[in-house]
Amino acid sequence: MNSKFQILVLGLFLIILLKGCSPALYIPTLADSQKAGVSVDSLMIGRKLYVRNCGSCHNLYRAEQFTRKEWYRVMPDMQKKANINKDQKVMILKYLAVHFKEGK
Ligand code: HEC
Repeated sequence: MNSKFQILVLGLFLIILLKGCSPALYIPTLADSQKAGVSVDSLMIGRKLYVRNCGSCHNLYRAEQFTRKEWYRVMPDMQKKANINKDQKVMILKYLAVHFKEGK
């Protein structure tokens, strides 16, 4: 095998690996922060809490998959399941809220 081919294979492997590990969870931008009236840092903390606490039993749902009402309906239950406190739950909801599905 020549080395260019090996590098190509390694590159493809890395792309697949990274794709597989990072779900399509949005990364907060300045526009998101302005929309939410919350700093990018706070949204980032919400994202971290979400990734750390909410992906052990099921794949992480994307904010866009549920409306505000649906998120708020499952959160109390999931807060218990994830064993997080109220502040952590609020941070996660702030992060998700920027991209809730349209509708009530
Ligand atoms: C201990 C396991 C566990 C953890 C941790 C957990 N979940 Fe869940 N989650 C479940 C189970 C089981 C269901 C499906 C049954 C249900 O709705 O209770 C579910 C369902 C969901 C659903 C889908 C509801 C629907 O209508 O389809 C959402 C959204 C969700 N979880 C969000 C979260 C969030 C956010 C967190 C972190 C705060 C979290 N989950 C942590 C077990 C867990």
